[in-house]
Amino acid sequence: MKRIGILNSGGDCPGLNAVIHGVVGAADQLGWEVIGFRDGFEGLLPPGDYAVLKPKDTIGILKLGGTILGTTNKGHFAAKVGKGDIAEVPPEIVAKAKRTMDQLGISALVVVGGDGSLTTGLQLYREGWPIIGVPKTIDNDLSATAFTFGFDSAVSTVVDGLDRLHTTGESHKRVMILEVMGRHAGWIALWGGIAGGAHVILLPEIPFSLEKVAEFIKTRDAQGHHSTLVVVAEGAKMPDGEIVTSHANEGGEVRLGGIGEQVCASLEKMTGKESRACTLGHLQRGGAPTSLDRILGVRFGVMAAKLAEEGAFGRMVSYQSYHVDSVPIEEAVHQLRLVQPDGELVLAAKAVGICLGD
Ligand code: F6P
Repeated sequence: MKRIGILNSGGDCPGLNAVIHGVVGAADQLGWEVIGFRDGFEGLLPPGDYAVLKPKDTIGILKLGGTILGTTNKGHFAAKVGKGDIAEVPPEIVAKAKRTMDQLGISALVVVGGDGSLTTGLQLYREGWPIIGVPKTIDNDLSATAFTFGFDSAVSTVVDGLDRLHTTGESHKRVMILEVMGRHAGWIALWGGIAGGAHVILLPEIPFSLEKVAEFIKTRDAQGHHSTLVVVAEGAKMPDGEIVTSHANEGGEVRLGGIGEQVCASLEKMTGKESRACTLGHLQRGGAPTSLDRILGVRFGVMAAKLAEEGAFGRMVSYQSYHVDSVPIEEAVHQLRLVQPDGELVLAAKAVGICLGD
């Protein structure tokens, strides 16, 4: 029987289980058996950590957050180190993993991951592996796909958070700052901020001035709006150009976090208004996927199985204009889709009176 391998790599994301469900269901109908590797590429290392996945094994997983296979953004196959530097997987590790692939007779390997994991996938494809990519990131910042599953769930969590901060902020006439995920791109902050009624949105792509934000808050106050909701993306840069990190470099990508508190302290001082900061953090990555992310995940999984059947290796599933298709992985990696400072979405935010700090 032909066998497809599947693994999840990098940070988790709501909708990963929907992809597994899609791959397993479609592969079964195509007469393929699916092997799920645990903890990303690590599951390929001898003796191999994997399970055979039948349709009965995926019953009920659509609604679950996380991934039943486990994942990691560290380990022997991590492509990203430090501030976006790329590392190649050493040949001896590749050779060990390849032995597991051969022993199990895997003739297609579906790699569900973000930019880093797809970079590893591309390296392996160039070394002759039958790789199919499925894009995954709550940040929604891969240029070769208009949407990735997980993003909608993350935005929903931001909106829920803002709705809650709105009521307590109004009661106390405070400035409430919500720090959200978004390493390089501000999509979560922008979508979540607009949908959640934020008054100020600070993004990695748009340099901001704290003086302008403070003036905006004071003007609102003078107009009788005594509470202001501020959303700041974790990857936004302070006016001195620095990104704010919460931990020293631990060998993987730098851990972002803390800009919300810094913005809060500055705005409190500059406006004289009592302010509070709150960080949503991994609440945005956990929990059940929205229906949109479930559908996108299933469609991505089904397309991945179809690409395996066609032998279309080196391609990544992609969503464009309401249609799920595929693109070469090499066109998809290292090309981030960032918020355009003069794009329609930013202009729409400004048109409804939102301050971007510029
Ligand atoms: O890339 C997705 C992301 O959610 C970023 O927005 C965030 O900086 C990072 O993952 C957090 O990763 P970790 O789970 O390793 O802290």
